[in-house]
Amino acid sequence: MKITYYGQSCVLIETAGKKLLFDPFIMSNPNAKHVDAGAIKPDYILVSHGHGDHVADLLEIEKSSGAKIICIAEIASWLGNKGIEAHGMNIGGGYNFDFGRVKMVNAIHSSSMPDGSYGGNPAGFVIYSEGKVIYFAGDTALTYDMKLLADENIDWSILPIGDNYTMGVDDAIKASAFVNCTNVIGVHYNTFPVIAIDTEEALDKFVKAGLNLKLPAIGETLAL
Ligand code: NI
Ligand code: MN
Repeated sequence: MKITYYGQSCVLIETAGKKLLFDPFIMSNPNAKHVDAGAIKPDYILVSHGHGDHVADLLEIEKSSGAKIICIAEIASWLGNKGIEAHGMNIGGGYNFDFGRVKMVNAIHSSSMPDGSYGGNPAGFVIYSEGKVIYFAGDTALTYDMKLLADENIDWSILPIGDNYTMGVDDAIKASAFVNCTNVIGVHYNTFPVIAIDTEEALDKFVKAGLNLKLPAIGETLAL
């Protein structure tokens, strides 16, 4: 299993011969101009919520790749109105896809589409594939609901750490304890001035908490 970081919360997970792209914001992200988004060609696009920094490039990448979109029911309806058939889910539900299982889990945030349409609730995802468990938290506050994942044997958590709109570093460290996972990939930071963080300080705080924080460069691939 591999993960590639494309900036903000956009990651590509390659597993079981499939490419899963999360929260596409690449061509619209000035920090990711060096990424050839058209070459990614995902099989699936997972959308955590409707904010622009998570869906700005959704329609274009869906069109060029033919990827199946996995998202909450209200975003699936919004896509349906555009003639795109998505796989709608809701919080607490899981579904077995050809690469493994996806469970949609709670995120504490807000959600509306870029055109102002209702986006349903924001969400996170737990991915079960190749014997590994990955938690993609989405945009979220720290919440006790994360403790529901403590028994899931999560191998890697993908957590927002940029503060202001989501958890910051200190709450992401608490979230790691709640979900009982020491391996963290930090996302949703340094894209805009209000979510700029001191990355050296973040790495130091995670180490002191006994955690393994990875902050891959945009375009960098890690083995999971
Ligand atoms: Ni958001
Ligand atoms: Mn966001």
